Amino acid sequence: MKIFSGSANKPLADKIVKLLKKPLGRLEIHIFPDEEKRVAVMEEVLGQDCIVVQSTSINADKNYMELFFIADALKRNGAKSVTAVIPYLGYQRQDHVFREGEAVSMGVIIKILEIVGIHKLITLDLHSSRIPELFNIPVLHLSALPIFAKIIKEKHWDEDKTIIVSPDMGGIRRVKILCGLLRNMPYIAIEKNRDLKSGKISMEEIQGVAEKRAIIVDDMISTGATIVKAADLLRKKGAEEIFVFATHPVFAGNAPVLLQKSVVSKIFVTDTISISQEKLFPKLEVLSVAGMIAENL
Ligand code: R5P
Repeated sequence: MKIFSGSANKPLADKIVKLLKKPLGRLEIHIFPDEEKRVAVMEEVLGQDCIVVQSTSINADKNYMELFFIADALKRNGAKSVTAVIPYLGYQRQDHVFREGEAVSMGVIIKILEIVGIHKLITLDLHSSRIPELFNIPVLHLSALPIFAKIIKEKHWDEDKTIIVSPDMGGIRRVKILCGLLRNMPYIAIEKNRDLKSGKISMEEIQGVAEKRAIIVDDMISTGATIVKAADLLRKKGAEEIFVFATHPVFAGNAPVLLQKSVVSKIFVTDTISISQEKLFPKLEVLSVAGMIAENL
């Protein structure tokens, strides 16, 4: 088995190979002045099972193109199989038509991943548990929830006055799984409505959080609007402390600034997406999924 990394999340690939006590495979990724990329495999892969680690957050298009070229280079050089580890699967929120006239962008990405010869996908905490069904190749859908449960137990937050909160109805399945790992801790879900045209969100009133420690659990934080709005609502309804666990730190625009300024005490995310230095902030703690991925290779 040989493990390669695209340029989107090399720190995670480095941790995975370190855990597996293997070297990272050598690739040459050259960027031309017009920003086209030339990818070359710099070592023997004939007959080898190859793994490519590439997250596909900002800039999703560039990161996907790079992954397609790496997969093609590996296949052309005789790789026996190519497994793509895409910890954050870009375009997953466009898995069906929401408004008339739209493309199903996730469907397009899936077709290309399969055409370029990827045999298997390993990914984490998909927005919808139905996305794997859209693929014709095997998909291993891992979850950071056990990592979150471990932290909650270590901090003894599972022992008193804690309630798990899903910031939207779509996340109920996720919080039920987490509560199952925490001796059936209580949970609530906020009814969130999003205007499909403007993207603006609103949230319905909730009850039962007064004097509680509220832990918001979500799959991803993009603009931060969902977390900030949910946290404000929880505080208004009397929650004493508010924490957040979210797998994917997409952190679009000024999300880090909004999150740092929010009423949330601490935000736990994972390293499915590499966070640049300028996007780090004091309330943030990054947990690693490298061990979980390494165990499943
Ligand atoms: C939405 O359904 C997802 O689970 C997340 O809550 C959402 O994508 C977060 O986006 P934002 O941070 O922009 O509100």
